[in-house]
Amino acid sequence: MPTRTLIPPHGGGQLINRIADPERAQVLRERAERLPKITLSHKQFCDLEMIAIGAFSPLNGFAKQKDFDSICETMHLADPIKPPEARRRKFQKPRYPVWPIPITLAVDDEIEATLERRGQAALFHQDGTLLAVMDTADIYEHDKEKMCKSVFGTEDPEHPGVKAVQEEGNWLVGGAIHVITVTPEREPGEQFTEHRLAPAQTREEFEKRGWSTIAAFQTRNPIHRAHEYLTKCALEMCDGLLIHPLVGETKPGDIPADVRMKCYEVLIDNYYVKERTMLSVMPAAMRYAGPREAVLHALVRQNYGVSHFIVGRDHAGVGDYYGTYDAQNIFDEFHRGEIFITPLKFEHSFFCKKTGQMGSAKTTPSDPSDRVFLSGTKVREMLANGERPPAEFSRPEVADVLIEWATSQVETANA
Ligand code: ADX
Repeated sequence: MPTRTLIPPHGGGQLINRIADPERAQVLRERAERLPKITLSHKQFCDLEMIAIGAFSPLNGFAKQKDFDSICETMHLADPIKPPEARRRKFQKPRYPVWPIPITLAVDDEIEATLERRGQAALFHQDGTLLAVMDTADIYEHDKEKMCKSVFGTEDPEHPGVKAVQEEGNWLVGGAIHVITVTPEREPGEQFTEHRLAPAQTREEFEKRGWSTIAAFQTRNPIHRAHEYLTKCALEMCDGLLIHPLVGETKPGDIPADVRMKCYEVLIDNYYVKERTMLSVMPAAMRYAGPREAVLHALVRQNYGVSHFIVGRDHAGVGDYYGTYDAQNIFDEFHRGEIFITPLKFEHSFFCKKTGQMGSAKTTPSDPSDRVFLSGTKVREMLANGERPPAEFSRPEVADVLIEWATSQVETANA
């Protein structure tokens, strides 16, 4: 029987690995002593890790100006994919990899003045750990207006992604990174070491388990019943399910990653088939860019070896900036074959009291009054008062983890 292979990485089929071996790391450490210093923000550190481990393949560094412009304007990288020698044909049209959001390194005027174009810089974590050496191949003015309009579709400073861009430095530094480490000392509980698999490792694990079709679920929230429904529908048509929460920077008010991890663990223990379900974290930062971020989330999961990607209502959205299904419709803007991973598009889901099941307007003939909907504010209020939301909304084990956290927040605030 022919062996079924995993989906290839995005943009040329090669997984990037920018982490130096110990010998080279030593050379980089010595060189870094003589280089100008850039201390990364939390978001920039998340991006560095994503590039280093190959989750952002085919990127090998932060965006140069030609990529910044090309991504903002066309959602593609500036350079075409190099086909392998055997597949190169004389008159083949060049293919440019899809890439929806520029991964940038912004610095302020003071740091920019210390950098040299076509030189190098040493990148540090906020705790003082030397992380990497970077080629400062390109240094250019940060066109924040262009980035906000094209990536977020708004310049409203109330939008958390726009706010982050508007507050960062006025210069962008582009070039390849040469990474020494992506594991500085983190706060205890934030390492998720046993669940922190790089794309090469998830691929290895999928192969070990004999899975070739895998559905991934992106989330920055605890998994409630609607989320659970999407993941199980997806698993019905795939060999396995990867629950792949984003644990990098999120906005204030989002539930911290360590609390969410406890929720995922109790949920999987009680309600999922362990042989068919994997939990691993994605160290990316959230941008809240809705449709463009949904494409980024999908391409990244392809790099992790995933064949199908769940996109529900208002994926990666915030407030009222995006339409409910904009993040699904954007996938139709690309030509066939440009994106290998298959988006699994789900309608807004809920528990229906009439049918006694989870479903959506597509599958339950119910009246809106039969549907269990709770606002985020209402749920937070219940949890802070030590009350479990209805079982149709959240599994009790998950609710209990959240109650413990929410009530401890209230106690700290009142102390
Ligand atoms: S996101 O920022 O990661 O998109 P969230 O964790 O809330 O936020 O959502 C994870 C995924 O579940 C997204 O694909 C989102 O569209 C989907 N989703 C969340 N709630 C629902 C729902 N009630 N019905 C359908 N899809 C949903």
